[in-house]
Amino acid sequence: MKILVTGGTGFIGSHTSVELIEKGYDVIILDNLCNSDASVNSIIDSITNKSHVFYKTDLLDEDGIERVFSENEIDAVIHFAGLKAVGESVQMPLEYYNNNITGTLNLLKVMRAHGCKKLVFSSSATVYGVPKSVPIKEDFPLSTTNPYGSTKLMIERILTDLCAADKEFDVTLLRYFNPVGAHPSGLLGDNPTHPNNLMPRIVDAALGKTEALTVYGTDYPTRDGTGVRDYIHVMDLAHGHIKALEHMGGMKIYNLGTGNGQSVLDLVKSFERVNGVKVPCVNMPRREGDVAECYADASKAERELGWKATRDVDDMCRSTWNFALKSRK
Ligand code: NAD
Ligand code: UFG
Repeated sequence: MKILVTGGTGFIGSHTSVELIEKGYDVIILDNLCNSDASVNSIIDSITNKSHVFYKTDLLDEDGIERVFSENEIDAVIHFAGLKAVGESVQMPLEYYNNNITGTLNLLKVMRAHGCKKLVFSSSATVYGVPKSVPIKEDFPLSTTNPYGSTKLMIERILTDLCAADKEFDVTLLRYFNPVGAHPSGLLGDNPTHPNNLMPRIVDAALGKTEALTVYGTDYPTRDGTGVRDYIHVMDLAHGHIKALEHMGGMKIYNLGTGNGQSVLDLVKSFERVNGVKVPCVNMPRREGDVAECYADASKAERELGWKATRDVDDMCRSTWNFALKSRK
């Protein structure tokens, strides 16, 4: 099968491309490189010992997407490409709506024109807004708290309507919780230019790039007062996409998480212990828009896809540090 991976040079897309190639799929990567580097392509090839096709194409360029589909018989698409910084989306809503929604509509139009009707979409736990309780199940109420989240929810609705109108479309929405970790080679990982998420900021504090990790909120109603999230290893997440592809049929929705909540301090302590480094911390007030606890009920993916996260927090911390020392710029 020939799979088009949009956003395939990004963090999750690159790990998934490796997994796909290793499972025998033909991979075509489309990315405009707005948040990744073309060198990731040769890293993917060197890890897998195989080559893949890469198009530097923007999803806002419909003719460019058309070229990719005319030159290749694509069987299915895994759609990672999108802008993902919550804070930035509040500052630049038009750019976020245009990139994420127009980009997806362009992709869908070209897919339909070429009779390619299988899509796996990168959604997010952000579509649960402030969850009514935890663990979160797929049928919980949906809402959003920022433009980034709204783009994810709107795309989910567009895809739901498309599947209702055209029964030949198979769409799987994967709602990721908090992806962290890196490829065991240390050659692929998360390499943000302006780190906002917890794990890259732990790394910066451990490397001495920042004075300390700012712990946002120590007065949440959680076991140690800090925010609790469901951190999931990017290799497990990559594997989840293979399982999703193997089980397509109509409209499907799955949480991809471990089902376990870890606090900010839990993650810091694990990172210090497994890597033998210090992560200086400074307590700060709560960050606006954060919820106390967010973790998945991941049992539907286990039941229906036969997928379960297998890597623990120690693996996540170890592989992140390995990548940081080997490859992070
Ligand atoms: P990433 O930024 O590393 O990868 C996204 C890739 O898409 C980048 O390589 C970027 O250059 C590309 N891209 C963006 N807009 C494009 C466009 N118009 N045309 C072509 N390429 C474009 O992000 P990631 O962490 O790998 O996330 C992948 C997907 O998963 C995103 O859709 C993101 O919203 C979603 N997601 C991520 C997280 C997370 O915490 N990392 C959580 C939930 C959902
Ligand atoms: N945190 C800190 N200090 C930091 C950064 C984060 O204490 O410097 C805390 C946050 O307050 C939160 C936890 O670490 O309690 C996790 O924060 P992240 O920013 O790493 O992740 P979020 O859960 O806020 O959001 C992430 C993605 C969203 C996605 C969501 C659910 O950034 O895009 O997971 O998938 F929607």
